[in-house]
Amino acid sequence: MQSVTTQKFDDVLVVLVDNPPVNALSWHVRQGLNDSFEQGLSDDTVKAIVLRCAGSTFIAGADITEFGKPPQGPDFNAVLNIIEASEKPVVAAIHGTALGGGLETALVCHYRIAVPSARLGVPEVKLGLLPGAGGTQRLPRVVGIEAAATMCALGEPLSATKAASIGLVDRLAGEDSLADDAIAYARELIAIGPRPTRERPLGGDVGIIEQLKAANAKKWKGFDAPYANLACVEAATRLPFEEGMKFERAEFVKLMAGSQSAAQRHMFFAERQAAKIDGLAKDIALRDIKKVGVIGAGTMGGGISMNFLSKGIPVTIVEMVQENLDRGVGVIRKNYENSAAKGRFSPEQVEAMMALLTPSLTLDDLADCDLVIEAVYESMDVKKEVFGKLDIICKSGAILASNTSYLDIDEIAASTARPQDVVGMHFFSPANVMKLLEVVRGDKTAPDVLATAMAIGKKIGKVAVVAGVCHGFIGNRMLSTRQQPAMQLLLEGATPAQIDKVHTDFGMPMGPFQMSDLAGLDIGWHRDPSRVETIRDALCAAGRFGQKNGKGFYDYDEKRVGTPSAEALAIIEDFRATSNLPKREISNQEIVERTLYPMVNEGYYILEEGKAQRASDIDVVWIYGYGWPIYRGGPMFWGELEGAGKIVEALERHGVKVAESLKAKA
Ligand code: 3HC
Repeated sequence: MQSVTTQKFDDVLVVLVDNPPVNALSWHVRQGLNDSFEQGLSDDTVKAIVLRCAGSTFIAGADITEFGKPPQGPDFNAVLNIIEASEKPVVAAIHGTALGGGLETALVCHYRIAVPSARLGVPEVKLGLLPGAGGTQRLPRVVGIEAAATMCALGEPLSATKAASIGLVDRLAGEDSLADDAIAYARELIAIGPRPTRERPLGGDVGIIEQLKAANAKKWKGFDAPYANLACVEAATRLPFEEGMKFERAEFVKLMAGSQSAAQRHMFFAERQAAKIDGLAKDIALRDIKKVGVIGAGTMGGGISMNFLSKGIPVTIVEMVQENLDRGVGVIRKNYENSAAKGRFSPEQVEAMMALLTPSLTLDDLADCDLVIEAVYESMDVKKEVFGKLDIICKSGAILASNTSYLDIDEIAASTARPQDVVGMHFFSPANVMKLLEVVRGDKTAPDVLATAMAIGKKIGKVAVVAGVCHGFIGNRMLSTRQQPAMQLLLEGATPAQIDKVHTDFGMPMGPFQMSDLAGLDIGWHRDPSRVETIRDALCAAGRFGQKNGKGFYDYDEKRVGTPSAEALAIIEDFRATSNLPKREISNQEIVERTLYPMVNEGYYILEEGKAQRASDIDVVWIYGYGWPIYRGGPMFWGELEGAGKIVEALERHGVKVAESLKAKA
């Protein structure tokens, strides 16, 4: 089947792109556009041309799978130049999404008509790129510098109605009559003639560029692409069009050749791949989830509940004590009200979501729930007791999920007579914000239960990843291989601030000790101040429990900003003295080798044991669950870039047992 076809409607030629699933600009589409426009331009009976797409969307961009491969087919810019130079008016008819190269194609068309539900944008920045086919030069000429800079640097698409208000869309079509409306519009334009975008005057205030940089400094730390996007828009304001195009090309080539874009493109596909479950039929029938139960109204249970309420799914939340229930429900309301104050919800929406929440003091109220998620205290005995009760109370076919972050799902499932209905659904704190959901597949978890847990994860806006049963699953299992050596490095002479800085300079939101302070140093502490076996014991014995009481590895002010603590350092020194370990200079490179390389190694073990389906799933876990910088593509992708040989050599030098599959790559 041809991916681009033409059809004449009297004096209007309709060029139709049909390249499922998203009409990406694969080489054969570029070829087809080239040929179709040449045909239309040389046919004297054609007076205007409409470019439209079949299927669910207008062109959603360049074909990302072609990036990094030898070029094939006509050059994209050359094709766009033919369209823009047309002496006959060209109309882009937009439905679905016009993204990246798709919007750039629409921008060389002289006019744009769109259905109100369409969305238009240049999301290249999210792939570590910039619109590399004139987007940074043409967009400002159509919508002005402010809107263009914002669209390029943030990559957020606009609704067609918003696009119409800034001149990006010239006319709105009827939702169901785009094909006819576009032809009628093109016919009107025959008398008006073409309007090449490159010739349009450029207006607006270039000051927006510095404003965007200032407003996003924190978010963009470490990223190259937002700045390159802005540099190109800035270039458009001072260079003639052709010069601006050369500037854009040079910046695009630089980004495309760099590791950041490679990492971000890897993550684009990794995220989509994660949804695919090995060995499961694609069309497996899912269980219907109309009502959810959550056990535990603490931080975790409350956050989990919000995910469902926000999507209009009723939740029954159960606590043991009225006071805790009230507090939990109060926190949910407060969170929604805070979001409403920031304009994310209207007060009516807050009330509508709260009306979907049923607080309860008894598990009996979960009888009619289709999915119950347990988020109680992390103790196997407690969990088994809860699941035993759920087994009696819940209706047949209900999915019974545990939010445990470490414990054995199979053992929990064994406390019920329906282990096939039991699955892990491990959310990450804060559960209403973090995008990761680890779906833990037990030995006996039924395929449709697994598939339903993954699907409901997607529905509530999470990126769900399948994990196998092992201590800490994918994420926390790897976390411990970082935390333990970090602690050992303290004993050998590094400071918490030095180690944390290596991690934050790497791009992590916080280092190992900042994370420990946030979680609380007294988690798992034996509560006997006279027993000091670890540095954590020593800190707890001195009443340093972390952020919660303003002192841990760091001292915290009332805004919870931490500064290095002389007292904590003295405690660490004292502890080192009792261990008789000599103090030495620790280099930042050694910190990388001993805290980051072991994570890569553990990732290989996880794959060897089949606890993750694929390496890219591990990357998804670390990016969406722990804030690993997306421009480094996750630990497994980063490990490939570092080089297996280098990692294996360093791990062996530090006495770490290396996974065979990692060794095999070296
Ligand atoms: N190239 C190649 N494949 C693409 C693609 C693209 N631009 N966009 C989507 N796909 C693939 C996906 O990988 C997925 O494949 P799979 O079914 O095998 O997993 C399939 O199309 C469907 O995609 P989604 O699952 O994402 O479908 P949705 O309906 O949820 O979303 C979408 C559709 C909003 C278009 C979303 O796919 C998307 O955001 N795509 C990327 C858009 C983009 O970034 N465009 C810019 C590309 S770079 C560029 O244009 C450079 C230029 O300036 C020169």
